[in-house]
Amino acid sequence: MALVPMRILLDHAAEHGYGVGAFNVNNMEQIQAIMAAADKTASPVIIQASRGARSYAQDNYLRHLMLAAVELYPHVPVAMHQDHGSSPDVCFSAIEQGFTSCMMDGSLLEDAKTPAPYSYNVEVTRKVVEHAHKRGVTVEGEIGTLGGIEDGHGAGLTGAEAMAHLTDPEQAAQFVAETGVDALAVAIGTSHGAYKFKHKPTGEVLKMSIIAEIHRRLPNCHMVMHGSSSVPKELVDIINQYGGQIPETYGVPVEEIQEGIKNGVRKINVDTDNRLAITGAIRKVFATKPGEFDPRGYMKPAREAMQKVVEERMIAFGQAGHAGQIPKVSLEEMARRYAKLK
Ligand code: 13P
Repeated sequence: MALVPMRILLDHAAEHGYGVGAFNVNNMEQIQAIMAAADKTASPVIIQASRGARSYAQDNYLRHLMLAAVELYPHVPVAMHQDHGSSPDVCFSAIEQGFTSCMMDGSLLEDAKTPAPYSYNVEVTRKVVEHAHKRGVTVEGEIGTLGGIEDGHGAGLTGAEAMAHLTDPEQAAQFVAETGVDALAVAIGTSHGAYKFKHKPTGEVLKMSIIAEIHRRLPNCHMVMHGSSSVPKELVDIINQYGGQIPETYGVPVEEIQEGIKNGVRKINVDTDNRLAITGAIRKVFATKPGEFDPRGYMKPAREAMQKVVEERMIAFGQAGHAGQIPKVSLEEMARRYAKLK
């Protein structure tokens, strides 16, 4: 199967009440880990690359790695998604590279740091929707501003400032109506990276109530949870046991994500947990086998450690077992459907 439009995966997930993990990649081993996990659990999957990942891996390498993935696993439906496009041009170039989905993050200005006015967000997001839908490509928008910084992208908001930029459900409804986005990223108190919360999060800092409220107003809206790594203590402990220095920290508990899925969350972004798993596995080899100098000697355990995390998330989010049920819809067919809706 070729890459599929992400919208097809989200629609199926909504119909059957599950969520789809969107896992970030920078290199071959991460793509291999995700595909092996999807194969083992029979899961449809979203693979995503940030601007930083695209420049690290280079678009041509990335494109061919993704083509290899779908060639090797024709029974696994895969959507390729641009994570946090900072301008329409970033999204357009991703579409040119064969991405089947893109995020126009107009919650920030093009510097990818400054929170943007609502009118700017609507303008750039609408522009991307217009261009992408003609090509059958899915668009994710964002309303409210996420905390933290990822690959240089983010306002870096914390504490009270971050809480002041959470998604307003009324504005979310207006934004969806004005832009025609397929999926909506919401700011509910999560942030990118390992340092999300100082304690296990309560409803005071992790506002799942916003998701429930948006779902009440927009029952058909596919919501996206960014910053959804759980930062498991076991993974942090392995890193620290073998010479790392990661202070005590808390992520988003998987049970909270499952609650979100019951309330319309269809795409769950996970990067940090995989980074932690990879780093722990590599540190362990370096510490226990100081004579090892073949990269395969540490990349293989790293890949296996990531695969394990991805499998666990696929099962927890409910996407496991659905790979064979996704309708085969090409980008061309999807473009025809959007044109008809218009
Ligand atoms: P984490 O840092 O929590 O894995 O979030 C990743 C993400 O949201 C990518 O957009």
